[in-house]
Amino acid sequence: MRYLTFALGKGRLAKTTLGLFEKVGIRCEEMKDPDSRKLIFVNEEHKLRFFLSKGPDVPTYVEYGAADIGVVGKDTIMEEGRKLYEVLDLGFGKCTMCVCGPDSARELLDQGQLIRVATKYPNIAKDHFYNKKHQTVEIIKLNGSIELAPIVGLSEVIVDIVETGTTLRENGLHVLEEICPLSARMVVNQVSMKMENERISQIIRDIRSVL
Ligand code: PRP
Repeated sequence: MRYLTFALGKGRLAKTTLGLFEKVGIRCEEMKDPDSRKLIFVNEEHKLRFFLSKGPDVPTYVEYGAADIGVVGKDTIMEEGRKLYEVLDLGFGKCTMCVCGPDSARELLDQGQLIRVATKYPNIAKDHFYNKKHQTVEIIKLNGSIELAPIVGLSEVIVDIVETGTTLRENGLHVLEEICPLSARMVVNQVSMKMENERISQIIRDIRSVL
């Protein structure tokens, strides 16, 4: 039996994912050591391997088959646009992709003015403004703390994730448009899904039964 390899996005989703895997008997104790610099972890008993990568790299590892299975946010799946199967909504990490900004931006947005949109998700922003709304905007890619952009005048609005709304509130910004709901998803390499169908289907069934 060959190893099945899991790619997990580092950060908020990783802990919950490991908790969920534990519930179905997929254990990887070593991975929980926060001081470890090890990159890959093996469960010899079940012939499984796990690694943590940056979230946006998870779909890349899965598309190329370096990982058979990945767990990653729907935002990243949409942004990366990789060829893979999205097989399960894991139901945690729930949040919403939104257009946000100060109250003053509402009018500019509604009038379809040529505004600047700062975001970590240029592809999602393009799809929303160009394909769905047929609105011309200038998209500016940032890498984090997106809420800063309208405050310091880099852009009129942002496209970003809203979870509790605290970041927006504390910075005087509002949700102006909702783009789509998000949550953690399980994704599978398209060839692995055929070649390892029995094992992967069983994992999907097991996880579904504890959701
Ligand atoms: C995300 C997102 C918002 C915030 C939303 O950022 O980009 O800034 O969380 O959460 P809230 O609605 O509960 O306040 P993250 O903390 O992941 O870091 P980043 O700014 O570096 O992207």
